[in-house]
Amino acid sequence: MENFHELLVNRHSIRKYTDTEIPGDYVKTILEAALMAPSSKRSQPWQFVVVEEKRMLETLSHCKEAGAAPIAHCSLAIVVTADPEKGDAWIEDAAIAATYMQLQAEDLGLGSCWIQIRGRFTADGMSADEYVKENLNIPANMMVLCIVTLGYKDEERKPFNADKLLWERIHLDEWREQE
Ligand SMILES: Cc1cc2nc3c(=O)[nH]c(=O)nc-3n(C[C@H](O)[C@H](O)[C@H](O)COP(=O)(O)O)c2cc1C
Repeated sequence: MENFHELLVNRHSIRKYTDTEIPGDYVKTILEAALMAPSSKRSQPWQFVVVEEKRMLETLSHCKEAGAAPIAHCSLAIVVTADPEKGDAWIEDAAIAATYMQLQAEDLGLGSCWIQIRGRFTADGMSADEYVKENLNIPANMMVLCIVTLGYKDEERKPFNADKLLWERIHLDEWREQE
């Protein structure tokens, strides 16, 4: 990507992936991005589980009733967890790390999608967090924020149209209700 703004204009969630494997050095670069993410008081409360095994990806795709299907078909998924005891801003910290990974992936020409886990439930009513932790042997004290799916893009998304951005959400000097 030539410049960062262009990357943002072109980034969209990608839910369909080709079978092409992600090179190991790309995975390392994406994980480096996560480990360089800023965190409140430098608490770095996150830990990440990289899942490549197809059968496990299929299992994880059932972590919630809807919206988790991309996990089954991605090349690799990164489970974003954090320890709430290590930082009261763990949700923000983990969200920034996940976003860093998504942007880094985009820069490498990969597609990604955030799959929300926190506050979601399986079709049977089990917490998605518990489901993911049980399957991946993640300690009970950790919380699972989301799963970032990754892979080479197998769908085309249109770039953002600058004319359609929600400028009415921006207030100058003070809040003014829009007519
Ligand atoms: C907090 C959060 C939770 C999301 N959860 C899901 C999800 O569970 N499944 C999914 O397919 N996409 C999920 N997404 C992706 C959004 O649907 C997507 O970012 C949004 O529709 C805007 O589209 P774009 O990313 O293509 O620009 C999530 C995104 C965020 C930021």
